[in-house]
Amino acid sequence: MSTKPANIPADSKEVSDADWWRQAAVYQIYPRSFSDSNGDGLGDINGITAKVPYLDKLGVDAVWLSPFYPSALADGGYDVDDYRDVDPKLGTLADFDKMVAALHAAGIKLVVDIVPNHSSDRHEWFKEALAAPKGSAARDRYIFRDGLGENGDLPPSDWDSKFGGRAWERVTEPDGTPGQWYLHIFAKEQPDFNWDNPEVREDFLETLRFWSDRGVDGFRIDVAHALTKDLSEPLPSKTELPVEGSGVDGLADGSHPFWDRDEVHGIYAEWRKVFNEYTPPRTGVAEAWVHADRRARYASPEGLGQAFNFDLLQADFDAEQFRSIIIKNLAEAAASGASSTWVFSNHDVIRHATRYGLPDGTGRNGPARAWLKSAGSEPALDRALGERRARAATLLMLALPGSAYLYQGEELGLHEVVDIPATDRQDPAFFRNPGVEIGRDGCRVPLPWTSEGVAFGFGEAAPHLPQPDWFSTYAVASQEMEPGSTLALYREALRLRGSLQTDELLKWLDASHDSVLHFTRPNGWQSVTNFGTAPVKLPAGTVVLSSGPLTDGNLPADTTAWII
Ligand code: NOJ
Repeated sequence: MSTKPANIPADSKEVSDADWWRQAAVYQIYPRSFSDSNGDGLGDINGITAKVPYLDKLGVDAVWLSPFYPSALADGGYDVDDYRDVDPKLGTLADFDKMVAALHAAGIKLVVDIVPNHSSDRHEWFKEALAAPKGSAARDRYIFRDGLGENGDLPPSDWDSKFGGRAWERVTEPDGTPGQWYLHIFAKEQPDFNWDNPEVREDFLETLRFWSDRGVDGFRIDVAHALTKDLSEPLPSKTELPVEGSGVDGLADGSHPFWDRDEVHGIYAEWRKVFNEYTPPRTGVAEAWVHADRRARYASPEGLGQAFNFDLLQADFDAEQFRSIIIKNLAEAAASGASSTWVFSNHDVIRHATRYGLPDGTGRNGPARAWLKSAGSEPALDRALGERRARAATLLMLALPGSAYLYQGEELGLHEVVDIPATDRQDPAFFRNPGVEIGRDGCRVPLPWTSEGVAFGFGEAAPHLPQPDWFSTYAVASQEMEPGSTLALYREALRLRGSLQTDELLKWLDASHDSVLHFTRPNGWQSVTNFGTAPVKLPAGTVVLSSGPLTDGNLPADTTAWII
C-alpha cells in the first residue's frame, strides 16, 4: 500500500464548478441495496443520507443514483410509474431533499437516472392508453399497432425483447375483446414511449426541470440510444434486423429501426437547452451501447455532454487490450469535446473482481457469463487473483484522464453472488429466459456494512436479496480495521486522485515489457501496471500508492503503482 507520503506537484488542477463532471469519481448507488433505514429489507433514501459520512470519507465527487421512483420493480426500478416522485417504499420527496442537502454539504454532487425509453405499465399515461380507444391521443404516447393475421392475433412483428420473449404484448380493449399490441423492447411491464409525440417530449423536459430545481446536478440517461424509432410498415422480420456484434446495439450508419438513429440527437439538443438554464449547467451521461464511432455524438457539448464507454468493462485483463481501448477513447473524447468515461462494474454486469478471477481474467462477454450460467461450478473462481487484478485495474483507471464510474461494493472488492435461489431472484432477464440466463441479481445483493448481524448491517430485517456468509469478511467494518484492505486502497486512491488531478492528457512511457502499461499525466503523476505473470523492475520515482505489496524495487504481477 502507500509507502511514502505524497509529494503533490504544484501544478495540480483546481476544477471550476461548471467542469466538475469532467474528471469526477462518480459512485453508483443502487438504492434498494445500499442501506435500509426502516427495517423493511429494502434500501431507502434515508439510508443513503445516513451514509453520507461514508461517501465523504471514501472521497467520491458525485453519486449516481439508480431509479428511486415509484415502481413495481418489474425491472429493478427501471419501470417507472411516476417520474416526479419518490417510491413510498424508499421515502418521500422531503427525504430526497434532505439527502441532496446532506450530499451537497459534504461537497458531493448528485446525478439521477432518467428512464426515457419506456415507462412502467402502471404509469398514468399507460393506464389511460389502455382505457382509450385505438387511434386515440392517449395511445399515441406509446407504440400501439394492430396485430397481423385475420383476427390480429399475431404480433405486428416477430421481434424479441432484450430480456427474451417477444417484444409485443397484446392488450384487452375496454370492451373486453382482444385488441392491439404495444411494443416493449425490454420487459412487458415496460411499454416504449412514442418519441414522435410532442407531449412525451414536453413531459420529459418538465421532469428534467423538476429534479434540477430540487438541486440535482446531472442525469444518467437509460438506453439513450433507443428513443427514436422508424416503425414504417411492413416491419422487418427479426432475421432481417441487422446485428452489429456483441455488446453493441445499432449500426455504424444509424440505419437500424430502433437503435441509435440520428434523430435521437434532436431530443438531446432540447435537453441541453434545459441543462444550460441552470448554473452550473446540469450534466448528462448517456448509456448508449453503440458503435464506437457513433458514441461521440451523445457526448457532444450540444447533446448530453458525456457517454459511457463500456470498452474496458468488456476487455480481458490484458495490457494490449487496455492500451488500445485507452488510446481510442481518449482520442474520441477529445474529438467530441467531452471527457472520457471509464467503468468496470455496474448493476448490469458481473462484478469485475469475479470476472478477473476466472482463469483468463475474462471480460463481460467471455466465459464469465457461461460460468455464471452454470451457477459458478466451472471453471473455478480464484477470488484472491480476481481481487488483486481488480485493485490493479481500478488504480490504473483512477489515474486516467476523465471520469471514473464506480459501483457500490467494488470498494470492498465484492464478488458476484452466484448461488441465489431461483425463488429469491428478481431480474426479468432470469425469468424470461428459463434455464438460459441467470440474470443480474448477483451484483445487486445488499451491501455488508458490519461483519455480523441480521443483514450484515444493511438493515434490521432480512434483505430483499439474500447475502452469502462470505460477505462477513468483506464488510465495511472489517475492512476499516485493516490497513491493506480494498476499502483503504480506494480511500487513499481517491484522496490522492483529488490532489493530483491535472489536465486531461496522458503520455505513454516506454515500458520494460509488453505486459506492462506505464503512462504519465502532465504534472508527472505516473501509473504503471504489470499485467504479466512475473515481477518487473519498478520505474524510478517515489511510489505514493500501490494496489498490492511491492517487493525489492519490483512491481509484482497483477499490480499497479502510482509514482511521482
Ligand atoms: C439499462 C439499465 O442499466 C438496466 O438495468 C435496465 O434493465 C435497462 N436499461 C432497461 O431500462
